[in-house]
Amino acid sequence: MIRTVTTTPYGDQKPGTSGLRKKVPVFQQKNYAENFIQSIFDALEGFAGQTLVIGGDGRFYNREVIQIAIKMAAANGFGRVLVGRGGILSTPAASNVIRKYEAFGGIVLSASHNPGGPTEDFGIKYNIGNGGPAPEKVTDAIYARSQVIDTYKISDVADVNLDAEGTQEIDGMTVTVIDPVSDYATLMESLFDFDAIRKLISGGFRVVFDAMSAVTGPYAKEIIEKRLGAPKGSVMNFIPLPDFGGHHPDPNLVHARALYETMMAPDAPDFGAASDGDGDRNLVIGRGIFITPSDSLAMLAANAHLAPGYAKGLAGIARSMPTSGAADRVAEKLGIGLYETPTGWKFFGNLLDEGMATICGEESAGTGSNHVREKDGLWAVLLWLNILAVRKESALEIARKHWATYGRNYYSRHDYEEVDSDAANGLVAALRDQLSTLPGKSFGALKVATADDFAYNDPVDHSVSKNQGIRILFEGGSRVVFRLSGTGTSGATLRVYIERFEPDPARHDIDTQEALADLILVADEIAGIKTRTGRTEPSVIT
Ligand code: G6P
Ligand code: ZN
Repeated sequence: MIRTVTTTPYGDQKPGTSGLRKKVPVFQQKNYAENFIQSIFDALEGFAGQTLVIGGDGRFYNREVIQIAIKMAAANGFGRVLVGRGGILSTPAASNVIRKYEAFGGIVLSASHNPGGPTEDFGIKYNIGNGGPAPEKVTDAIYARSQVIDTYKISDVADVNLDAEGTQEIDGMTVTVIDPVSDYATLMESLFDFDAIRKLISGGFRVVFDAMSAVTGPYAKEIIEKRLGAPKGSVMNFIPLPDFGGHHPDPNLVHARALYETMMAPDAPDFGAASDGDGDRNLVIGRGIFITPSDSLAMLAANAHLAPGYAKGLAGIARSMPTSGAADRVAEKLGIGLYETPTGWKFFGNLLDEGMATICGEESAGTGSNHVREKDGLWAVLLWLNILAVRKESALEIARKHWATYGRNYYSRHDYEEVDSDAANGLVAALRDQLSTLPGKSFGALKVATADDFAYNDPVDHSVSKNQGIRILFEGGSRVVFRLSGTGTSGATLRVYIERFEPDPARHDIDTQEALADLILVADEIAGIKTRTGRTEPSVIT
């Protein structure tokens, strides 16, 4: 039976960079999740009888919201729901299922790399029929609806058994519980030379993958151990836990420190990698070398043709504005387009749909391609393995040769987390005020060439996104970018992105923070980070 329930709006349901993210207790408020899900449905048109994909990263509260979403989808007139067994679908796998089964869209429950648990983070994201995150016009409509919502619809039925594959009917809608892994694994097999990678691994090449007690565990076990033959134990922390074992499932040098140390040891395996809470981010470390996400994008783009799925070459490369310019040099050499978008995977959707870009990446540990419409952690790892198998060189050798050919973009991001929101907004406002006076100013040897607040004109739908980050470009190609994170759940996070281009191979071995030291000082001088935030050091350096 379908019930229509009276409700009142919550003022804070504005989706951020990647859906609505809040602490679990916020989501547990009466009707909070229901309001947002109904707002999603109310913002959409034409889904009667269509398919909706539902899945999440397995974090605390995942199962509860999945039951709500299924019952609301039935009450709102969807024809079919595909849900991952156990309520599990990694973000890229969800994107693939939406595309493969021509669904109308999908609801992905995740707060990505943020911690999980009863007092930690939860999130709801809507993906459209191309498999990608809803564009701003959709998320704006969802938010607008959430501000006036007065009722939602839900089916009054028993919970669906999420743990057994199969189909059942509720209020005229079919619910099919699907294997979350197999479609995704098939897709990966279609893109990469599994035989070559198997041969590499059976020849003694050692790979380790840290699933960080998050969603990629079952995917990596199936693909890396079962299909590619890596020895048992190559995939670590492979059981998805609702609280990720109490860790941040964020594959960076802070939260995946143990992996980093393993890879820097003298007896290190050949290749180490990790993915985040929902499986879309990646960390890639060769023996003795951490590959920055910006470099990884450039190196993958330069070598992608070595994998069968990309043998015809790339149509173009897209990167977010704060991502380093390393990929630009590859695009230039390949004679293909390079697109610079605002932070947020959703901005790549149009470029991928139109066939303008094949590979995309962000400094925030995201890389992906036109195979789905999300970034994809395991995909990046498999492309690396495919390249390593074909080139028969180590990651370190590949990186060195890459820098020798293209030059090296030294790059680092400094995050100041949980900063007072007023202080952070004040800092950005003060930077905006300086934009017209900065060009021409010198700070030691560094002279400002241009300064602006990045705006993006989407070449496909011509939508304009303003205020996407303050860029200060220095003569010679160095750059400092400031922006506030759109994914945090408490206070503000100031991100400072620092980059310097070094063409000289004799200078490709400098410690990154050292190579950027002068720019780091100038960033503080221009933005007044210390005085405005009271912080003497970043919370996280990546
Ligand atoms: C998520 C998004 C990315 C984005 C990242 C950082 O992972 O999917 O597209 O780059 O968050 O966003 P933020 O606004 O926190 O810098
Ligand atoms: Zn993620």
